[in-house]
Amino acid sequence: MNAASRTRLNRMPEWTALGKHREQLGQTHLRELFAADPARGTAYTLRVGDLYLDYSKQLVTDETLRLLRELAAATGVAELRDAMFRGDKINTTENRAVLHTALRAPREAVVEVDGENVVPGVHAVLDKMAAFSERIRSGEWTGHTGRPIKNVVNIGIGGSDLGPAMAYEALRAYTRRDLTFRFVSNVDGADLHEAIHDLDAAETLFIIASKTFTTIETITNATSARDWLLTELRAGQEAVAKHFVALSTNAGKVEDFGIDTANMFEFWDWVGGRYSYDSAIGLSLMIAIGPERFREMLDGFHLVDEHFRTAPPEENAPLLLGLLGVWYGAFFDAQSHAVLPYSHYLSKFTAYLQQLDMESNGKSVDRDGNPVDWQTGPVVWGTPGTNGQHAYYQLIHQGTKLIPADFIGFAKPVDDLRPGLVAQHDLLMANFFAQTQALAFGKTPDEVRAEGVAEELVPHKTFRGNHPTTTILADELTPAVLGQLIALYEHKVFVQGAVWNIDSFDQWGVELGKVLAKKIEPVLTRGEGGDQLDSSTAALADRYRTLRGR
Ligand code: F6P
Repeated sequence: MNAASRTRLNRMPEWTALGKHREQLGQTHLRELFAADPARGTAYTLRVGDLYLDYSKQLVTDETLRLLRELAAATGVAELRDAMFRGDKINTTENRAVLHTALRAPREAVVEVDGENVVPGVHAVLDKMAAFSERIRSGEWTGHTGRPIKNVVNIGIGGSDLGPAMAYEALRAYTRRDLTFRFVSNVDGADLHEAIHDLDAAETLFIIASKTFTTIETITNATSARDWLLTELRAGQEAVAKHFVALSTNAGKVEDFGIDTANMFEFWDWVGGRYSYDSAIGLSLMIAIGPERFREMLDGFHLVDEHFRTAPPEENAPLLLGLLGVWYGAFFDAQSHAVLPYSHYLSKFTAYLQQLDMESNGKSVDRDGNPVDWQTGPVVWGTPGTNGQHAYYQLIHQGTKLIPADFIGFAKPVDDLRPGLVAQHDLLMANFFAQTQALAFGKTPDEVRAEGVAEELVPHKTFRGNHPTTTILADELTPAVLGQLIALYEHKVFVQGAVWNIDSFDQWGVELGKVLAKKIEPVLTRGEGGDQLDSSTAALADRYRTLRGR
């Protein structure tokens, strides 16, 4: 569907119908929905690959789901999806195709951008990554002094950090435990310091990950890392080739930095930063888990790509998750969305999703540049259970806000836990199931009274329930399952952007701060240009200079 010809979202009859339906639904409680349909707990479920999705604890009926699907049809979600998979330039403000799905396409697939099949190039880079990874893993690749690499430090930020850092944690059980992996992103020198202070430079490989190779944080950290390495090794530039590789779309800048382009792993402008960890950006991960496991992860992504592309709307999991978010944002005024993984290995999963979701859909103009007057992307947040239960779950259970949440859990703990620790898994999962149950059904005042609670405490001990959750349950956190999960969320975000008629693939909102930081730096370091700042920032800069003794 041509965005320009689109009726504004909130004037569509399908939107109005949902609004009316919301009014009719009123305060209908999940207790009532479950009582009315004893099969709800199995009927409102979906399977995608290894993922089992239970959305029965969502505030929806068959009618809601039908109306939401009608909205998806009216807003052209399927057409935009097909355009994305086809390689059309759906990132209109940057005039780019959006083809992260090509990164996990099988070798024989054909995906064209400007008439050129990009799949052979994708596989050529994957093959080059695999060969390099094996050389590191086998010890064949040696550093400047002839010693094998034992430490891998990925330097990148945003999509060039969060993906590999998250996936490395997620797949720790599959990693080479005898190699050390560190991820440096923050321009705060403390980050690099903590990452390298205990490493032997002679055994350290730096992977400089930057799509543009102009990002100030990454180039600054990479320069400092190079200085450290050359000082530690008492070596000249010739040592760089053995200790630095680059992941980038920008060969010119990589060369300018002093990295041989033979040591560059390429990707393309049709891969968005936040959609890039299954490209060359995943090199650190591939070294950690090996090319075969990386391939399994890509197959997991691809499975969900195919599901999203071909499954009918009633069975389409990313479509469903996306529409549920639209429903709560528009008709319940939900401001945020919690993602709560019950796996310690997913400790960085929500941070990763924050960029994926909030950088994609944190927009307030539509594709034509008109202000939107409907809610777009939510604040995404969360940490692994059960830690959150002892921190902020109080607010989810009894606060004034409606916070839809995804609970992600696994039937089996990872393989290499000691038997005693394996036994803890049932307790973890009991909490996992208990929380969605408590959130959905709560505890009525009468139930509290029946426990003999003093009347004045009854309101405090009552749980109103009716908090919507989706449960995503998988057998085990394998590379394939991780790929499935990430692709599920990628396409969920896509669906929402399509409905909201926003460009989910640009990120102009990050630019202003970058430009201003460049102007403020000389004020801080040399006291130049303070007169051009507003009075608050000027005074703060002044105070900073004083505190630094300048
Ligand atoms: O500033 C935002 C951003 O452009 C992200 O979209 C991107 O993932 C990150 O910076 C890093 O960019 P690069 O990979 O070009 O260094």
